[in-house]
Amino acid sequence: MAAINMDYTNSRLVIETTKIEPGSVSWRSPSNIALIKYWGKHGRQLPQNPSFSFTLDQAFSETTLEYTTKTGADQGIALEFLFEGKENDAFREKVKKYLESITDIFPFLRQFNLKIRSSNSFPHSAGIASSASGMSALALCLCSLEYELFGTLEDDLAFRKKASYVARLGSGSACRSIYAKAAIWGDNPEVEAASDLYAIPYWEEIDPVFHSFHDDILIVNKSEKKVSSRAGHGLMEGNVYAEDRYRQARQRFRQLIGALKKGDLETFGRITEGEALTLHAMMMASPTPYLLLHPNTINIIQRLQDYRATSGQPIYFTLDAGPNPHILYPDSIAREAQQFIRGELSEFCVDWIEDQVGEGPLQLEEN
Ligand code: PMV
Repeated sequence: MAAINMDYTNSRLVIETTKIEPGSVSWRSPSNIALIKYWGKHGRQLPQNPSFSFTLDQAFSETTLEYTTKTGADQGIALEFLFEGKENDAFREKVKKYLESITDIFPFLRQFNLKIRSSNSFPHSAGIASSASGMSALALCLCSLEYELFGTLEDDLAFRKKASYVARLGSGSACRSIYAKAAIWGDNPEVEAASDLYAIPYWEEIDPVFHSFHDDILIVNKSEKKVSSRAGHGLMEGNVYAEDRYRQARQRFRQLIGALKKGDLETFGRITEGEALTLHAMMMASPTPYLLLHPNTINIIQRLQDYRATSGQPIYFTLDAGPNPHILYPDSIAREAQQFIRGELSEFCVDWIEDQVGEGPLQLEEN
């Protein structure tokens, strides 16, 4: 397999003067939806199986990282954190811990007073995971700061590879948000350039029908998950089906790649829906069993499958680690699909976001 044993530890990335002007860097970064799920990890946030995702467009985070050089000798991470304009201690602690854990990669972080301002395009507690968009936006800011201070990472691919690597350490799925349209994360025999350490872009190889795919997120429940993804990954360790699941994921990954290349929507849909249900089956079968589905999740799935059977339209669902279905369909049937969603599914949701495959992160003008 082609994965390079790469290590971004770099003790030379320290500044030698405190005369650096205060500054800031800002990125907008989208969420992504996995079609082959990453569920189960080992080591320093390494996946048990390869995953594939579409990069979203409308669901994104915007993050600004402000920095001023420290004057005292304090060697810790000095961080202020504002979420949607308000101080947020829980997020601050989480991000501080994360920044501390990557000072081997960015030792200069100890030399600045840092202020992070972050917000999401979707309402907080909408039941949409924001770790992929939030962590990828932060990782991109960190790489931009490295570039501003040291002139490194000039090459766009090298920049993105490092941003993906760093995002992965914050939240595994975040490493896939770095690229336009679609991404792969995890060693596999089908895609030689893929790696467990970072995601790679993967859209030129796939049929154009997927380049403009829709992904409408139907929100059936806005409350926070009872079991976090972190705990969920942990529970895979004691799951008696774990090894079979990883084997199945690798096999489905291979089949999905074939379907993506051929534009085979039927196989795409079968695998995608299988993955969504298996993810939740793993939760139900874990040593401490739990259920994140809502009765309306099932109502939506059943209506969708009935509609597909009678209309013959290629419309499918997937699920994240929560109750809110994502409805997937090609742009060519957008009018009929949206009519169906409004007419037959909206009664089961409190809200929905019309999203689709997007162009990836965007560096924002400094403000
Ligand atoms: O990135 P994490 O640790 O929040 O895990 C995400 C796991 C899933 O969203 C359920 C699947 C995936 O591959 O994104």
